[in-house]
Amino acid sequence: MTTQLLEGRTILVTGVVTTGSIAYGVARRALAQGARVVLTGLERDLEKARSAAASLGVDDVLPYDATDPEAVDAVVEAIRVRVGHLDAALHAIAFAPRAALSGDMVGVDPVGLEKAFRTSTVSYAETARILQRLAPASGASLVGLDFDATGAWSVYNWMGVCKAGLESLNRYLARDLGRLGIRANLVAAGPIHTRAAGGIPGFEDLLDAWAERAPLPWDPHDVDQVADTVCFLFSDLARAVTGEILHVDGGYHAMAAPLRRRDGAG
Ligand SMILES: NC(=O)c1ccc[n+]([C@@H]2O[C@H](COP(=O)([O-])OP(=O)(O)OC[C@H]3O[C@@H](n4cnc5c(N)ncnc54)[C@H](O)[C@@H]3O)[C@@H](O)[C@H]2O)c1
Repeated sequence: MTTQLLEGRTILVTGVVTTGSIAYGVARRALAQGARVVLTGLERDLEKARSAAASLGVDDVLPYDATDPEAVDAVVEAIRVRVGHLDAALHAIAFAPRAALSGDMVGVDPVGLEKAFRTSTVSYAETARILQRLAPASGASLVGLDFDATGAWSVYNWMGVCKAGLESLNRYLARDLGRLGIRANLVAAGPIHTRAAGGIPGFEDLLDAWAERAPLPWDPHDVDQVADTVCFLFSDLARAVTGEILHVDGGYHAMAAPLRRRDGAG
């Protein structure tokens, strides 16, 4: 009998809200690879998250608000009681007010921007704190979800700034957690239809850009293409990988300009 990639691993997956969430796909693929999965969700999303979890055969979702520093103790304790330890964790949490996602950068309410940065960037370090407290001496794997922040998009705006911060934070976490054997990596995904994506005005522009530039076909409904790479980073196959940003975007990031399509050229 062949061994499954994540057999015997206990993995925290944050950010499930619907069956379309990237986190849902990661939980499903990790379960299929033999992992035990613990899910967390935001209080106001718990009912939806629990119904999504039930379809995975996972009977609970722990409440966790990533902007509440006191929530870390509660979630660590709940995980300790339920499963004892964690071998890996997925950060799949982001929020920005609508006004911060398109239009001009200048003039957006800074209070909303602080909340966006706290929720989408700083919370990655909070997930690291949870993992650090529950990781075995043999180490663990932290993975976050990125949208390539090396350039300015036509939309995405302040969330792009939050993702640039996430990319930098990932390098610092890799530096600090390496001595504990904990790896920190990001998966920079192409555009996927999720609830969060539905809140980005002009998301369709991103899909058009992918159709023009990505050398591989890109299916924005296929969460598994992202989830499988997250599972790879959770696994021992990636044991020497940390501080990395792995693009799962059909190759979009490597192209300098729209492609000349040679359809039918044989
Ligand atoms: N969908 C895309 O195109 C895409 C592409 C690249 C990266 N990502 C990233 O993937 C991650 C997951 O997003 P998704 O697209 O699956 O959307 P989603 O809407 O399914 O998930 C977003 C999650 O963030 C959670 N959340 C928001 N505020 C929170 C808080 N204060 N505390 C705890 N949880 C909170 C929501 O409850 C939800 O579960 C995000 O980091 C997003 O930026 C998405």
